[in-house]
Amino acid sequence: MQLTVNGETHDATGCAPSQTLLRFLRTRAGLCGTKEGCASGDCGACTVLLARQGEVPRSVNSCITLLGSVAGERVITVEGLAGSDGPGRHPVQAAMVDCHGSQCGFCTPGFVMSLAGLYAEGGRGDDAIRGAIAGNLCRCTGYRPILEAGRRMYGYPPAPVVPESGAPAGEVNHGEALPAGYYRPRDEAALQAALREHPDAWLVAGGTDAVLEITQQYAAPDPVVDITAVAELCAVDDANDALRIGAAVPYSMLERLFETESPPLVAMLERLGSRQIRNRGTLGGNLAGGSPIADMPPVLLAWDATVEIAGADGRRRDVAVDGFHRGYRETVLEAGEYVAAVRIPRASLTRPHRIFKLSKRFEDDISTVLLALSLDLAGDRVGEVRVAFGGMAATPVRASAVEGVLTAGTLDDRTIERACTAAAEAFTPIDDVRASAAYRRAMAAALLRRALRELREGRDLGIDAVEPLHA
Ligand SMILES: Cc1cc2nc3c(=O)[nH]c(=O)nc-3n(C[C@H](O)[C@H](O)[C@H](O)COP(=O)(O)OP(=O)(O)OC[C@H]3O[C@@H](n4cnc5c(N)ncnc54)[C@H](O)[C@@H]3O)c2cc1C
Ligand code: FES
Ligand code: FES
Repeated sequence: MQLTVNGETHDATGCAPSQTLLRFLRTRAGLCGTKEGCASGDCGACTVLLARQGEVPRSVNSCITLLGSVAGERVITVEGLAGSDGPGRHPVQAAMVDCHGSQCGFCTPGFVMSLAGLYAEGGRGDDAIRGAIAGNLCRCTGYRPILEAGRRMYGYPPAPVVPESGAPAGEVNHGEALPAGYYRPRDEAALQAALREHPDAWLVAGGTDAVLEITQQYAAPDPVVDITAVAELCAVDDANDALRIGAAVPYSMLERLFETESPPLVAMLERLGSRQIRNRGTLGGNLAGGSPIADMPPVLLAWDATVEIAGADGRRRDVAVDGFHRGYRETVLEAGEYVAAVRIPRASLTRPHRIFKLSKRFEDDISTVLLALSLDLAGDRVGEVRVAFGGMAATPVRASAVEGVLTAGTLDDRTIERACTAAAEAFTPIDDVRASAAYRRAMAAALLRRALRELREGRDLGIDAVEPLHA
């Protein structure tokens, strides 16, 4: 296998299917500018850019990106940025120096690459800068000078981000040039054939959950079947009655897809992981991982979505998201089955809805409690209503007791308080380092109160509307 980094071809022969891109860069390509901090996607020190032909480069965590999944793409590391501006520095690097954005320097290549990703897409403004670096930690400089560098980077002579010379055609590499034991099929027929041939294969999509088993628990899966190049799984089909989203569609694409359809979802997605995680993590991986605090399942529950499941033998079946989770990290997927797509009925998407995520940190943190609510109102009469929570039980769940209180009633203060009481009493969540059970219950009620009031009043009430306890 060969890999193109900063326009130069590197030999990757003999790499294991579990090899990460970061390990390859540092130990085989001799490119040690990219750092390893946490090896779990949390610190951003390992950030590099990936680009296919004609695409804007996107930032990813190379520590949890498998080498085989980037074959055929251009990899740009911090060493490549300097070269892209001839003898000078890339504007991001110049701005970081001039703004004193670095002290010990360990985090600096990661910040530079995240800002270079923003620069490549032309993103401007404080929100965009914060969004680009939310997945990067700095222990000594502090963020103010780094934010300032983000503001000033456009004031330098422009530089191309992607090295122009030696870049490959950028075709996704599907076959023989991958590490031995690494399969990256291009369509569902080939995926099913790979799964039949290798029934014990390790299935991976973006790898933002799965690759942690390699970096934290030293798993060495072999063979690996990577679904991120399967055309059908990467497709979005906007039919009349439903929006069908392929399982391998990453969050960054969902952000664009739902820009007008669901501002509440886009606002939540901005807080799902970091830019690097959203550039890799997929909808199918979020569902199939089976986590009770995964952020998408409650939203899909509130939208009555259906999971399309396919098997190695070609058989297909549909399962409502409501019946997809069996227990803690357990789903209805049988051996050889995978999530092919998710279908969201158009009618659900047009229902007014709210999605509130509560976490200890605003950015790049997993949920303590997540509420997704969708509700039809005719005057103050409630019609169809769905209420779903993450973080309140062993699986993402619908709150049928709350739905019962609201259905066919009047959305007055009394009903809202009854619904909030039902939300607080319906579940027995766990106590853990993230939150006590009592806090989760209080917050479930508080988030629900804000969502119901907002939908009744037809406006955003802001975070002040989250009163901790009902009267
Ligand atoms: C730093 C960090 C922050 C994160 N923040 C959040 C967050 O805020 N909210 C959140 O919900 N999650 C978060 N995650 C978890 C993770 O990013 C998401 O769950 C993501 O959607 C997983 O998708 P993936 O494509 O990376 O899955 P992978 O890691 O590739 O796979 C996860 C699991 O699902 C299986 N799988 C993947 N796709 C399929 C499929 N189509 N069919 C069957 N099985 C499949 C894999 O075999 C594996 O067992 C975070 C992770 C990290 C590292
Ligand atoms: S090393 Fe920390 S995110 Fe990769
Ligand atoms: S400069 Fe030291 S960690 Fe950021």
